[in-house]
Amino acid sequence: MKKPFAGAEHHLPAYRFAPLAADEICLSFGALLLVARDWLVSVYLLPLVSVALASVLIAWRLSRQNAGRLAAALQQAQDLAQQREKERDLAQEELFRRLYEERELNKEKIQFQAQLGEYERYAALAQLALGAAHEINNPLLGILSHLELELKTATGEAREEIEQCIDGAKRISTTLRGLLNYARPGPLVLSKISLQRLVADTLAFLENQPMLRGKRLENRLPKDLPFIRADASQLSQVLMNLLMNAAQATPQGGNVTISANKLTFLDSIEIRVSDTGCGIPPDILPHVFEPFFTTKRGKGTGLGLSICQTYVRSHNGEIRVDSVPAHGTTVTITLPIRQEGTAGAENEEQEVVLD
Ligand SMILES: Nc1ncnc2c1ncn2[C@@H]1O[C@H](COP(=O)(O)OP(=O)(O)OP(=O)(O)O)[C@@H](O)[C@H]1O
Ligand SMILES: [Mg+2]
Repeated sequence: MKKPFAGAEHHLPAYRFAPLAADEICLSFGALLLVARDWLVSVYLLPLVSVALASVLIAWRLSRQNAGRLAAALQQAQDLAQQREKERDLAQEELFRRLYEERELNKEKIQFQAQLGEYERYAALAQLALGAAHEINNPLLGILSHLELELKTATGEAREEIEQCIDGAKRISTTLRGLLNYARPGPLVLSKISLQRLVADTLAFLENQPMLRGKRLENRLPKDLPFIRADASQLSQVLMNLLMNAAQATPQGGNVTISANKLTFLDSIEIRVSDTGCGIPPDILPHVFEPFFTTKRGKGTGLGLSICQTYVRSHNGEIRVDSVPAHGTTVTITLPIRQEGTAGAENEEQEVVLD
C-alpha cells in the first residue's frame, strides 16, 4: 500500500524534516498566538467595535438632531422674547401716551373749570347789568316825557339845553333797549309772514329818513316767494338794522338793494341786503358781530348787527357779511321757511297773514 505523502516526502526539501530548535518552536507558537489573537480580534472584537462605532454614530446623530431641535427652540424662544420686548415697548409707549393725554385732559379740565368759573361770574355780572339796565330805562322814560313837556314851554337857551338833555336821554334809552334785546331776545312770537309785505313796509318807513336822501333804495324781491313762519317784529328789526347800516355806509348817488330767493332743494329762503358803500376793511370784518363794536364814533351803539345775529339765530337761521372795501357790502340771512320743533313754537300766536 502506498503511503500517503510518499511522493511528497520525496519532493520536500530535506530541511523540513530537520528537528526544530526550541526558539523556533517558541516563535512558531508566538506566531500561532498572534494568528489566534488576530482571529479572535476579527471574530469577536470587530463586531463589538462596529456596534460601538454604530452606537457612537447614532448617539452623535441623535445629539446633533437634539442640538438642532434645541437651537430651533432657542431661536423660537429668542424671537418670542424679542416680540414680547417689542410688545412691552409698545405697551409702555401707549401707557406714556395715555398718561400724557390724561395730563393734557386734566390741564384742559382745570382750564375749563377756571373758564366756567369766569363765565359764571360774567353771567352773574351780565344779569346784574341787565337788571340795572331795566331799572335805569324805566325812570329814564319818565324823565324823557317830563323833559318833552318842559320843552313845550321852554324858550331860548333853556330850550337848547332841554333838547340836548332829550337827545342824551334818548340815546341812553336806545342803548339800554338794544342791550336788553341782545341779551334777552324774548320768546319768538311766530306768525305766517309775507316777506314782500314786510319789506315793503320797512322800506316805506325808511324812505322818509334823512339818511337815505340822494340814495336809491331798490326792492328786488321776486313775486313768488313763499310765506315764512317767523317773528314779524324781530324780522322787521333785523331788516331795519341792515338797511340802516347799508344806507349809512353808502354815499350820495349810491344804491341800497334788498333781494331774496328760495333756496333750491332746501326749505329755506335767503334775504340779501347789498350796498355800493365804503365796504368793510378785512381787519374789521371779523368784529362786526361783537356787541358794542362800532366804527361810527358817537353815532352808533355797535349793537345793531349783534342783535340781528341773536334774532336770526333764534329763528334757527344764519347771517353772514361779505364785503369788498370801496365797492360795497352784502349781508345775507338764511331763514328756514318753517319753525317746527322750536321752543318758540309754544309761543305761537294765532296765525296772522301779513299780506
Ligand atoms: N353795510 C355796511 N357797510 C360798511 N360797514 C358796515 C356795514 N354794516 C356794518 N358795518 C360795520 O360794522 C359795524 C357794526 O355794525 P352795527 O350795526 O353792529 O353797529 P353800528 O351800526 O356801528 O351801531 P348801531 O347799529 O347801534 O347804530 C359798524 O360800525 C360798521 O363799521
Ligand atoms: Mg348798525
